[in-house]
This record gives sequence, C-alpha cells and structure tokens, in this order.
Amino acid sequence: MSSETQDPNYDMVHNEVTNDDIREYYSELYGSYQARWTREGHESLHVGYFDEEHTEHGPAVENMKRILADSVDIGPDDYVLDSGCGIGETATWIAKNRGATVTGLNISQMQIGRAREMARENGVEDQVAFNFDDFTEMETIEDDSKDVVWGLESICYADDKRDFLEQAKRVLKPGGRLMVADGYMTKRNLSSKEQKIMQKWLDGWRLPNLAHIDDFTADLEDLGFTDVNVRDVKENVMPSSKSLYYFSIFGYPVAKFLQLINVKTETQVANAVACYYQYKALKKDLCTYGIVTARLEE
Ligand SMILES: C[S@@+](CC[C@H](N)C(=O)[O-])C[C@H]1O[C@@H](n2cnc3c(N)ncnc32)[C@H](O)[C@@H]1O
Repeated sequence: MSSETQDPNYDMVHNEVTNDDIREYYSELYGSYQARWTREGHESLHVGYFDEEHTEHGPAVENMKRILADSVDIGPDDYVLDSGCGIGETATWIAKNRGATVTGLNISQMQIGRAREMARENGVEDQVAFNFDDFTEMETIEDDSKDVVWGLESICYADDKRDFLEQAKRVLKPGGRLMVADGYMTKRNLSSKEQKIMQKWLDGWRLPNLAHIDDFTADLEDLGFTDVNVRDVKENVMPSSKSLYYFSIFGYPVAKFLQLINVKTETQVANAVACYYQYKALKKDLCTYGIVTARLEE
C-alpha cells in the first residue's frame, strides 16, 4: 500500500509503491478500463491529444500516438523499446503504422498476455515482442540495441526516474532517441492544500511521485543526452482530464455506495477520487503534461 511520506529534497508528495501494488491496482481496475475502452473505442492507457481535427476520444488517443511517433521520427528501420507497454495497443500501432520492430516491457503478466493477443489480431506478431521486465532494470534488453526508447504515461511509476534514464542510456545505440510523455510537476514548495490535492491523486492511481520537469531534464543532461526538448501539451490533453473529472463527480458516490455493499474495493473508490484531483492539480498549475525528447551523441 502507498504510504504518506514527504521527500525532503523535493518538498513534494512521495509515496512508497511496490511493483505488487501496481499489479494489484491494474488488476482491480481492469473492469473499469474495459468499460472505458468500449465507450471510447480504443484499448490504450493514456490520454488523447485533442486538436481541431481530433475532438473525440478514440481519434484523439490515436492522434497522441502519431504525434509522439513523429516527435522521435520512428520509421521501418527502427528498433523501439516501449517501456511500460500496457496491453500493447501502442506497440502494435507503431509496428503497424511505422513498420518498426517493437519490444514492450511490463511488470504485469496479465497485461502482457492481452498485448500478445492484440499483436496477433493485428498481424504484427513477427514485429512485436513483449517481455516481463522492469523498465528500471531492463534485464532482457542488450546494451546499444535500440534506436528509440519510449515511455508513455509509464515512467511516472518509477520511484526514481533517473533509474529508468540510466537504463535508457545503456540500451540506446549511439544517436538513439528518447521520448517520455508524462505528467511532470511544475511547482515546488506546495502549500498543504496543494499537497493534499497531489496526495489524493497519487494515492488513487498508485503513483510514487511525479518528477519536477526541471529535475527530469537536468538528469537527462547530466547523463549526456543532447537536444533535450520539452513540449508542453497540457491544453491538448485537458479534454481527457476533464472527462475523468466528470466521471469522478458522478462515479464517486456510486462507487462509495457499492463499496458499502462489498461490490467495489477501496482501490476502485480511491481511483475515482484520484480522477477528481488529477484535474484540480492540472488546473491549478501544480503540474503539466509534457512530451520530453532527447538524443544520445553519435
Ligand atoms: C498508464 S499505463 C500506460 C501504458 C501504455 N504506455 C499506454 O499508453 O497504453 C502504465 C503502464 O506501466 C506499467 N509499469 C509500471 N511500472 C513499471 C515498471 N517498473 N516496469 C515496466 N512496466 C511498468 C504498468 O503495468 C502499465 O502497463
């Protein structure tokens, strides 16, 4: 379980979250995600990128993949590592639409099972592999073997994001590209009210912490990455955030009642609470949604 502790270096909310906590979270929430996927017409665990041409959830979620793939220029000759691959829709999309060879990493055997099925259903099983592996260790990935390391709303699960960045550096070929799309803190020295907002969000989604954007980019530069770029796309993802917020307003009382009669679990109720607070945190500019790209020297 998450526990409330303060990281003295960050002056930010910092929970202890184990890989078992994360697996338990996703298995308890699987039914809720399935309902959402059916409603929205996709099977991804990330927000959409909304613009004039992509105003509905399904197309906006696919648009996010396209924008991120363009941000690191993924093509048919690339070997891509999808770090924290969910149930594989992104890896499958990259293989199908960019012709790349993709390895997905996940600590959930259950999600890997569905990911393999999805690759088969889409006829890309020869281009895509899914490994049970922690992206802060990457034990199944050889040195200098990848052209692109990709993390889409997954690196936030690393207790220390630098552990992931060190591994990314090890497995990237010279000149390799990195892309991490995620929530990042933009404020330090949070008031107690702001800390409460962050705590409720991170607790409900079983997240240890969000990296401050300046710390994340400083780590990249310190590790020798170049061309470090941050694209702030908060406004483009707000419709996804807002829809989770509306879901929480109606869904929380229902979930709470269902918990009383033992139909919903504490984790499911806390998730509904987090959906409310993630929106508050973004609206109050405690954090943002950024696409960070960088490159290793040739
Ligand atoms: C919010 S989901 C994003 C999934 C996927 N990137 C997508 O966009 O659909 C986060 C994913 O990261 C995985 N994950 C969390 N911690 C991990 C770790 N240390 N190593 C590998 N995968 C991890 C979770 O199991 C989950 O599949």
